[in-house]
Amino acid sequence: MKKKTNHLKKLLLVGGARPNFMKIAPIIHAIKKRISSIHKKTSFDYKIIHTGQHYDYEMSKVFFEELEIPEPDYFLNAGSGSHAQQTARIMIKFETVCLKEKPDLVIVVGDVNSTLACSLTAKKLAIKIAHIEAGLRSRDKSMPEEINRIITDAISDFLFVTEKSAIDNLIREGCDSNKIFFVGNVMIDTLLYQLNKLEQQNITSSSKYKGVDYAVVTLHRPSNVDDKKKFKQILESLTVIAKDMTILFPVHPRTMQNIKIFGFLEYINSNNIELLSPLPYNEFLLLVKNAQLVLTDSGGIQEETTVLGIPCFTIRKNTERPVTLQLGTNKLVGTNKAAIIKAYKEYKKNSITGKIPELWDGKTADRILAILLKK
Ligand code: UD1
Repeated sequence: MKKKTNHLKKLLLVGGARPNFMKIAPIIHAIKKRISSIHKKTSFDYKIIHTGQHYDYEMSKVFFEELEIPEPDYFLNAGSGSHAQQTARIMIKFETVCLKEKPDLVIVVGDVNSTLACSLTAKKLAIKIAHIEAGLRSRDKSMPEEINRIITDAISDFLFVTEKSAIDNLIREGCDSNKIFFVGNVMIDTLLYQLNKLEQQNITSSSKYKGVDYAVVTLHRPSNVDDKKKFKQILESLTVIAKDMTILFPVHPRTMQNIKIFGFLEYINSNNIELLSPLPYNEFLLLVKNAQLVLTDSGGIQEETTVLGIPCFTIRKNTERPVTLQLGTNKLVGTNKAAIIKAYKEYKKNSITGKIPELWDGKTADRILAILLKK
């Protein structure tokens, strides 16, 4: 019998910030499954790189533990700083790893500074890049993530997309259609896997907040939380919702810093808004699953609420994930107090329902790996 051959000898998988970890986990699980099922001679090596963009236990290590991600092979300890400092530090350290490991492929996910830094480094060393979650566009170049997306996509060799709008965006920007693969959403692989785990352990409805009506809020985007006036407007709109239900607000470190600097703590505490530390993945998943409503400026949460069927108000002027508006439970409500309150009043009259987008079925990582191994 003819042995199967694959040309992929070594790949590096990069994660750096909180939203990356749920995207690399299913890829690692799929790789492990493949390696154990392929004849040893045709196997390939892989290494996990943690850039250290997020470094607090609550923003990083707890996710590795819960999502069953092995200890990274390299921790680059990049830390915080200005965009230039952070990106440059990651590039310098990642270049050393690439020169030592000589991979034939680097896999990057999402749109954070680590995504850009590592893809740029790899390309300059003539290493192929696979970008997972390619093609999403907010058309807002004041968002650092939009710059990261455009540049990463322009130099990637494999563009794995979560929704069809991303294909149109990439084609419009001149990408070769042979490089684009509509595979679904790895973030949803993780969501369904973890949800199933929690269901088997019979803990999907156990929560300190069981039986309580509540909304979950997350805010971390500089455009919302670095500007005192804007941040206050958003908080004021939350106090209107807080008259009907408790607001549970797990707070990102950037947001917490600003809450303290702007002196908002007392206002928050006296208005039925409960601040929580950043939560581990499963705890957050359960909180969202049992919520009446979610208000967020995150990207991934728009997708997670769509799959869980929970109404979501996106506190932004745009979204790079339009399928969550067209099919899912997401509403783009803007950042202005009156607009958020108006959306809330409408939601009270007509609840929001949606459908799950195509290929968001928990099998995306397997599809990605099958494509990479065929090339
Ligand atoms: C980054 C991503 C953003 C993503 C978000 C999720 C970019 C450009 N932005 O934004 O797309 O939605 O992660 O969380 O990559 N800090 C800590 N502890 C940490 C990490 C950060 O205290 O573990 C603080 C630091 O003061 C830092 C600030 O948070 O200056 C911002 O961190 P940074 O990684 O620069 O960007 P995020 O706002 O987290």
